[in-house]
Amino acid sequence: MENNEKKRILSMYQCTGTFTLGNYLGAIRNHIHFQEEGYQCVYALADLHAITVRQEPAQLRRYTMEAYAFLLAAGLDLEKTIFFVQSHVPEHAQLAWLLNCYTQFGELSRMTQFKDKSQKHADNINAGLFTYPCLMAADILLYQTDYVPVGADQKQHVELARDIAERFNGAYSPTFTVPEPIIPRRGARVMSLQDPTRKMSKSDGNNNGCISVLDDPDTIMRKFKRAVTDSEGGVRYSDEKPGVKNLMEIYSALTGRTMEEIEREFDGKGYGDFKPAVAEAVISELQPIQERFQEIVKDKSYLQQCYRQNAEKASAIARRTVQKAMKKIGFLPIS
Ligand code: TYM
Repeated sequence: MENNEKKRILSMYQCTGTFTLGNYLGAIRNHIHFQEEGYQCVYALADLHAITVRQEPAQLRRYTMEAYAFLLAAGLDLEKTIFFVQSHVPEHAQLAWLLNCYTQFGELSRMTQFKDKSQKHADNINAGLFTYPCLMAADILLYQTDYVPVGADQKQHVELARDIAERFNGAYSPTFTVPEPIIPRRGARVMSLQDPTRKMSKSDGNNNGCISVLDDPDTIMRKFKRAVTDSEGGVRYSDEKPGVKNLMEIYSALTGRTMEEIEREFDGKGYGDFKPAVAEAVISELQPIQERFQEIVKDKSYLQQCYRQNAEKASAIARRTVQKAMKKIGFLPIS
């Protein structure tokens, strides 16, 4: 195992569009806090994962650059954290191939994200979509990761990475740290504002159900005012009121208030008061980040320098792990 006293945290984000409020509350915001809590953080943009669904080339480049700038604007500190673009570190693809050979067809068939995405993209059910969790396991295992903070939707993939690590370690000798998922208490699953039974996702990016982290205040307010609720009218936390429950989760994640406190705050008031209050909380969180983002994204040479240096740092760690795994498997060393 890596001889490092600090526990290592790793997470990644697909850059197939502008981040959503779900990405922000379920992942990014919490990940940035970990920097201050004595962990060694490694974060990356999962562009190799992005191409399991067809991407328009110029747009993929633009979204990757913007996503990089957004995380810096949101407070990611390159003095403390390694932050890179996955395709800049070739060891990800290399270890993914090895792990493909230690993962069963049946295991991959059970992944709910594969089932969902192959329904959504029925015309392009490619092999990469199927073996995606092996690439994700490689992402995690390359860095001898202790903890993987993710939204609830990614827990199944992290559990598979654990199984693969244990299997490999068992077949040879300890090679990979066995990672643990960390799921946030609040904001783990931000749901669509139009269909609160489905998670908020970039692929619904243009409709009113999804808040983009770069939406302007008027758009945010409009989308929240149109959010689907119910005819009962009261701000009450209940599984029978999925729309209100989702708005309360968002409000709670942003204000730190408990559900009881929120119920008390809006006692006797209706959705006409509650929805704008949630929108205001979102706006005041995102506005300063958006301002910083507009500054940072302009400076392409600074961004380039950052992702280049960070890819080198990441590669130095990843290379050691791949070499170790290859040696255990029995590949003939080149020297
Ligand atoms: P992705 O790109 O879909 O999402 C990035 C992060 O945002 C979280 N998230 C949400 N959280 C709460 N509510 C939502 N509506 C919501 N939507 C997204 C996700 O759980 C995730 O934490 N396969 C991963 C990317 C990945 C990865 C990795 C993650 C690639 N390699 C290694 C961890 C470790 C994905 O598609 O996340």
